[in-house]
Formats: sequence, structure tokens, C-alpha cells
Amino acid sequence: MIRAHGKLNLSLEVVGRRADGYYDLVSVVQEISLADALTFVPDSGLRLDATHPDLAGERNLALSAARLLALAGRQVAGASIHLDKQIPVAAGLGGGSSDAAATLVAANRLWRQGVPARRLLTMAAQLGSDVPFFLYGGTCLVEGRGERVLPLPTPACRWYALSNPGIAVPTGDIFGALRGPWTDGGRTRDVADAVSAEGRVTVGVNALQATLFALYPAAERCLADQSALAPGPTLVSGSGATVYSLCGSAAEAARIAAGMRENGYWADVAHSVASRGWENPCRPAP
Ligand code: C5P
Repeated sequence: MIRAHGKLNLSLEVVGRRADGYYDLVSVVQEISLADALTFVPDSGLRLDATHPDLAGERNLALSAARLLALAGRQVAGASIHLDKQIPVAAGLGGGSSDAAATLVAANRLWRQGVPARRLLTMAAQLGSDVPFFLYGGTCLVEGRGERVLPLPTPACRWYALSNPGIAVPTGDIFGALRGPWTDGGRTRDVADAVSAEGRVTVGVNALQATLFALYPAAERCLADQSALAPGPTLVSGSGATVYSLCGSAAEAARIAAGMRENGYWADVAHSVASRGWENPCRPAP
């Protein structure tokens, strides 16, 4: 079984429009403990089933990842993939992208395909803008469409309260309705610099938030309701509709999440996760 963690955008700016129609972004992305679980069993063909009925079958990004990897390898490869979905879907938390990245890595190992990391990154970018980040995990400065990923040093452990109004927000709809002016990425680079220089976590801006609120007023109410409970900064993650608050402690995050659940929202707590192979600062002391 492998865990595919979600992410939060600690800051996200749109710095321009590209010739290919995508937007150039600058974002600080943080891997969090909220995770899906995937299991891989060798099989003759490739199939995927999921705890969430809408996610089973052909259009799942994890299955596309497995197919790409199978084509790249030396041998004919198959697997039955089971996806235990815990991360809210189409919610700005990167769940589908994380499942796809985890599948690239797991299938490469399971089938002994020996696809090098550089090629995995190309496949990740082909699968979706958020997928390359998940091959690194931890805390990263992400640029371009999402394909340029610079790992940052692991910051101090932080806890987050997460909530959303239970609506699925297609990322393409938000980018489709986005209007300038763009910014220069400076506020996001300040967030990255605070992590690099001092291991300090701050929250910047989210350039997609205003468009999300215009299309989905329930997301704006969610942010207002959570801001009323949270002493720290509260922001939308990615294209939403999940909002998160940077908390002073696990207890504070639990209190905010409980309050949001009482208000009828989906809510949970999560902590920051370090990149694979690095010590996790949120691990309890032995
Ligand atoms: O890359 P991905 O398939 O995850 O992107 C989903 C949609 O979001 C794209 O179809 C595109 O419309 C939009 N997008 C964008 N610029 C980005 C990332 C995503 O326009 N940097």
C-alpha cells in the first residue's frame, strides 16, 4: 500500500499567459498528511477500482499514469489498482495528481521498468500541471505551468485546518474565467524566501481566489466562516474550493475543523509533510 498525500498552495500567483493557452504560475506548494491510499497487485491487464464510484475506470488519472509507464518500459505490464479515496475530489488539494505521481513511482518499481527520474518528470508534466510537484513532495517553489519544481528546505512542522463546502470545482473553469492584471510573483517568492532562509512558514496570496468566489459564492462564505474561527491566516488552496488556516497548534486546528463541521462543512486537520527520505518535523518525539 502506498500513500498519496494532498497539497496546499501557501501562495499562488499568475504571472502571465503562455502561447499554449496555459498560464504561467509561481506557487509555493506544501505536501500535507491528508492522503489517499493505493494498492497495486500484478495482473494480466490494467484496471482500477475505487472506494468513490465516480473515480473507478478508464478516465482516472492514476490509470493514465500506469498506462504511460507501461508503454515506456521494456516489458508488457499489468496491474489491478485499488484507490481508497480520502482527499476531497476537485477541491484544490491535488488528490488526483498525487494519485498519478504515486502510480508512476509504484508501477516503475512493481514492473521493474527502470524508467529514470528525468523521464518520470516528463510523463508527470504530460499527465497534469500539479503532477510533477508530487514526484518531489515536501515544500517546493513551483513555476511555469507546474513543470518547474524547486525543492525548498523542510520548514518547521505546521498544522492546518481544512474545510470546503462540498462542491467539485473543475480547475479549467477557474482558469477559463480568469482575468488579469497579473502580478510579478514577488509575494510568493517572499513566502519561499522565508522557508529557505529561516524555515518559517507564511501564507501569501491566491490569484485564483477572486474568480472562484465569483463563480462559486459558497466558497467565499466558507472562507468567511473559517476566518471567523481562525486566529491565523486563511486562504483558498489552488483553484478551490478548499480553504485552509495556518494554525498555531494541532489543538487549534482541531477546534477550527470541529467548528466548521458544526456549520455543515466538510472539515479535517492536516500537518505538513517533508519530502520522501527527509525527516518529518511533525513526527512526535520518541
Ligand atoms: O494541467 P491540468 O490538466 O491539471 O490543468 C487543468 C486545466 O487548468 C487545463 O485544462 C487548463 O485549462 C488550466 N490550467 C491553466 N494553466 C495552468 C494550469 C492549468 O490554464 N498553469
